[in-house]
Amino acid sequence: MTPCSGLNDLHPMSFPCSLLIRHAQIILPNGELIIGDVLTRDRTIVEVAPEITNATPTREIDAQGLTLLPGVIDPQVHFREPGLEHKEDLFTASCACAKGGVTSFLEMPNTRPPTITQQALNDKLQRASQKCLVNYGFFIGATADHLPDLILAKPTPGIKVFMGSMHGQLLVDQEAALEAIFAQGKRLIAVHAEDQDRINQRRKEFADIHDPAIHSQIQDNQAALLATQLALKLSKKYQRRLHILHMSTAQEADLLRQDKPSWVTAEVTPQHLLLNTSAYDKIGTLAQMNPPLRSPHDNEVLWQALRDGVIDFIATDHAPHTLEEKAQQYPNSPSGMPGVETSLPLMLTAAMQGKCNVAQVAHWMSSAVAQAYGIPNKGAIAPGYDADLVLVDLNTYHPVRREELLTKCGWSPFEGWELTGWPMITIVGGQIVYDKGKLNTNVRGQALEFKQDKLRT
Ligand code: DOR
Repeated sequence: MTPCSGLNDLHPMSFPCSLLIRHAQIILPNGELIIGDVLTRDRTIVEVAPEITNATPTREIDAQGLTLLPGVIDPQVHFREPGLEHKEDLFTASCACAKGGVTSFLEMPNTRPPTITQQALNDKLQRASQKCLVNYGFFIGATADHLPDLILAKPTPGIKVFMGSMHGQLLVDQEAALEAIFAQGKRLIAVHAEDQDRINQRRKEFADIHDPAIHSQIQDNQAALLATQLALKLSKKYQRRLHILHMSTAQEADLLRQDKPSWVTAEVTPQHLLLNTSAYDKIGTLAQMNPPLRSPHDNEVLWQALRDGVIDFIATDHAPHTLEEKAQQYPNSPSGMPGVETSLPLMLTAAMQGKCNVAQVAHWMSSAVAQAYGIPNKGAIAPGYDADLVLVDLNTYHPVRREELLTKCGWSPFEGWELTGWPMITIVGGQIVYDKGKLNTNVRGQALEFKQDKLRT
């Protein structure tokens, strides 16, 4: 049997090829679990059945004891290329994705230069086509100058608006400028919702405090709530498709529980579910991110909102900074933490602890994201869907270890956590890109498509 995508195969793109995954515990689109086989041909899933007998695949995987999920689609990452490659780049980030079972990502515009024009978007797409082991999409960033490409540039999952927590061109913190963005065009608007005026004022009040725990008080729950209220108000006024990025507070969850139009979605990060302000004592500025970590009460309310569908899906907000940068004294230490390598095992470990079930994790980390962004043929294990898959091991536990991480920043806020559900094999477009600790760096992902005309509005 000739492997079509064996590790270190020099011609991984040579099609036709087919993979037969045997005896896996498969999560079906309706959430049902079956033990069975999956056959892929070229980039596509062609058959899912309890037993596939008449196939002649180029490669077979015995998945006995493993669980097969649709590949994770991470809808909020900061991969730093171009301009900040000392923190991360598209190659290292996509290697980390492959290891973490993330087969597609949506990347944010706060690179240098920022992604605010078609030209900058094209540059990222070009770089990704050369370097990315997984599939990719890039947001276009809003500025207060209303550049025409905000409405026209493509392909993009949507417009990213930093209402707060940003400096320079990408900060849009005045209501009039925000309103102009909501009023023009139809594409999805994804907001980083923190109120910059309140942050500025509180930053002055607490200027003498260098304990990083003060970060959660400066950028407090109220700062997040005010911005989410404003985004919701504008979205309702224009019936504009709105997505609330990394929702972090009980108050925002309660607001959406009472008032969530059908055209609004929201996401939460694993760190806002699993970490809280107690993390500052243990890991200091490594726990610093925007929006900040909150209280154990916020953790619980966010979990409940996720289980109830008030929050639609999970994103990591992978935002790497070097340890040297993080070692600076607060507030000079930058905000952000990496996440693509740990998100799936963190959520599956939570499932094993009874916080949710495995089918919900597959929904929140893949299917619901594909639906919300209109990404065709992704997010399900079914004939006709893209063969982006991850086989995880839910039987063993292994700690998060710094030395095993592939992200260039080389650290994780979850170091030492004993997790289950680590990816054993990750498949992108029918090709094995990660196999038990080894990467096939010859595999390349593809640019994602976004079909948003049929989305709920
Ligand atoms: O903590 C954060 N860091 N939150 C963001 O939304 C952006 C980010 C970054 O780019 O470092």
